[in-house]
Amino acid sequence: MARKFIVGGNWKCNPASAKEANSLLKEWKKGLPNVDKSKVDVVICPPALWMSTLAPSIEGLGMEVCSQNVGKTDAGAFTGEWTAGNLLDLGIKWTLIGHSERRTKYGETDADVAEKVGKCQDIGVNVILCIGETLEEREGGKTDEVNKRQLGAVIPKVKDWDKIVIAYEPVWAIGTGKVATPDQAEETQAAIREYLKSAVSAAVADKVRIQYGGSVTPENCAELITKPNIDGFLVGGASLKPSFMDIVSKVG
Ligand code: G3P
Repeated sequence: MARKFIVGGNWKCNPASAKEANSLLKEWKKGLPNVDKSKVDVVICPPALWMSTLAPSIEGLGMEVCSQNVGKTDAGAFTGEWTAGNLLDLGIKWTLIGHSERRTKYGETDADVAEKVGKCQDIGVNVILCIGETLEEREGGKTDEVNKRQLGAVIPKVKDWDKIVIAYEPVWAIGTGKVATPDQAEETQAAIREYLKSAVSAAVADKVRIQYGGSVTPENCAELITKPNIDGFLVGGASLKPSFMDIVSKVG
């Protein structure tokens, strides 16, 4: 099955001001590639406080806004949180869940991630589920085991796989400049798809899109995207530059 590519720009807690964010979007507009929108989706994850204000500019570029996180509860006494319902209410149809920075810096467990996915599934918010191993786990030969554990925790919560994208982001490649080789990424992503086949179904394994994330740049993306199990990228640092449009055009 031909899967549509998907590229995400995860700005994390950047840039330092809304003014800079607006300037970046203006730069993108100038260099907007002529991509075939039937072949690639592009989602941008700005800091939460700017999701609404930047939405018109992001959507004006033919891209969609994606939250970087979401709460695991419904509305209530949860200071500092926002719900999947809040996202839909703002017209935001996408969220990341389980980014390794949430897992390692904010103590999110597999169970937390699963609950969040469940809330999104209940109301139809699209999820980019981030999974991936640390350097220690890779060196210990545990890569596939970690990915299966992180993905396996979520599987019971998923009713609609059309609303799930998986982002394989090896922690050792995030923000380090140390990108996985195309063969490493392909081998791991093929194993993730194989796991989906045995744990869910062949049809789901065939249709779910799997992004690669970790030090993706305009220079290294062209070879990565030739791999059959790489359906796009989740880009951090390089999505804060005008040249992010080069990544979009090389995929699209
Ligand atoms: O979610 C994107 C990510 O964590 C990768 O970041 O800066 O290595 O592209 P970066």
